[in-house]
Amino acid sequence: MWLYLAVLVGLYYLVRWHRERQVVSHLRDKYVFITGCDSGFGNLLARQLDMRGMRVLAACLTEKGAEQLRAQTSDRLETVTLDVTKTESISAAAQWVKERVGDRGLWGLVNNAGISEPSALNEWLTKQDFVTTLDVNLLGMIEVTLSLLPLVRKARGRVVNVSSIAGRLSIIGGGYSISKYGIEAFSDSLRRELAPFGVKVAIIEPGAFKTNMNNTERILLNVQAVWDRARPEIKEIYGEKYLASYLKLLSSRLLPECKENLSEVTDCMEHALTACHPRTRYSAGWDAKLFYLPMSYMPTFLGDTILTWVLPRPAKAL
Ligand SMILES: NC(=O)c1ccc[n+]([C@@H]2O[C@H](COP(=O)([O-])OP(=O)(O)OC[C@H]3O[C@@H](n4cnc5c(N)ncnc54)[C@H](OP(=O)(O)O)[C@@H]3O)[C@@H](O)[C@H]2O)c1
Repeated sequence: MWLYLAVLVGLYYLVRWHRERQVVSHLRDKYVFITGCDSGFGNLLARQLDMRGMRVLAACLTEKGAEQLRAQTSDRLETVTLDVTKTESISAAAQWVKERVGDRGLWGLVNNAGISEPSALNEWLTKQDFVTTLDVNLLGMIEVTLSLLPLVRKARGRVVNVSSIAGRLSIIGGGYSISKYGIEAFSDSLRRELAPFGVKVAIIEPGAFKTNMNNTERILLNVQAVWDRARPEIKEIYGEKYLASYLKLLSSRLLPECKENLSEVTDCMEHALTACHPRTRYSAGWDAKLFYLPMSYMPTFLGDTILTWVLPRPAKAL
């Protein structure tokens, strides 16, 4: 009985491996538009796809980021500046893409741009803090997608949305996890809507990686700034000792765990763009696969116990 089961599992992985190895043809003629290419995953993906011969249209937030990327890549790669929170900027970028792709349409749209701050305990934050993050990570991503979908549909292409393991498990307060849960929801409905047109939608769920986003010094300063402007009763309820332990937890245990090999994530993105049979979801990093994802399937009380166990106790806790 166990032998049959082992053979069946082995066969399943063999068929999956074979399916996933098949690559789409004419990659050199295909255009891919990527947001947030100044740094991190977006930057590496732009360089990676350029090396592979694809036609990369890289959107950077700053002209400086765009210049640096152009200096490291071939003449095929083109850049545009894009702020995903600004409708005019998105319209201009969409027109720019349209002029380049013409009748071929856009093969790949990678919604990668994102921010993680301000992040802290929900009660320490203001409504505007939530709006700031949601504007970039969720609403910006939705507007970019809506503006470019006609071109993606024309190419029967791919939409690749960068979520996070924080879109499966809400680990920290603030808008970040909320935005990533939103991306999961948006992508799920989009996938079903676009299937009849031959467009595939993939979601990337990385664990924690060392990019600008996870710069320890900046994160600690940001939490400190949120605390400094928090209401006096919040400071009384949590206490300075809580803040110190919270900052220590971030700096000594959580942030040092970030992985350095960003290609674990960009390889998933590349597969989603180039494989004949891309996956619906890609989790990248051992922490995502072995810790956060399994925890997201655990009974809530168990996950809550593990996550609250590592947190300090507020001064006025019962
Ligand atoms: N690093 C991780 O551990 C991790 C884990 C899970 C998911 N992610 C997701 O991966 C994606 C890429 O992040 P990353 O880790 O590579 O961090 P990153 O290096 O900070 O990259 C984020 C990019 O987005 C750009 N950006 C910020 N605000 C923007 C705006 N309003 N409009 C357009 N672009 C904007 C940034 O530009 P500037 O550099 O000029 O600010 C930067 O190029 C994000 O969606 C993030 O949530 C990251």
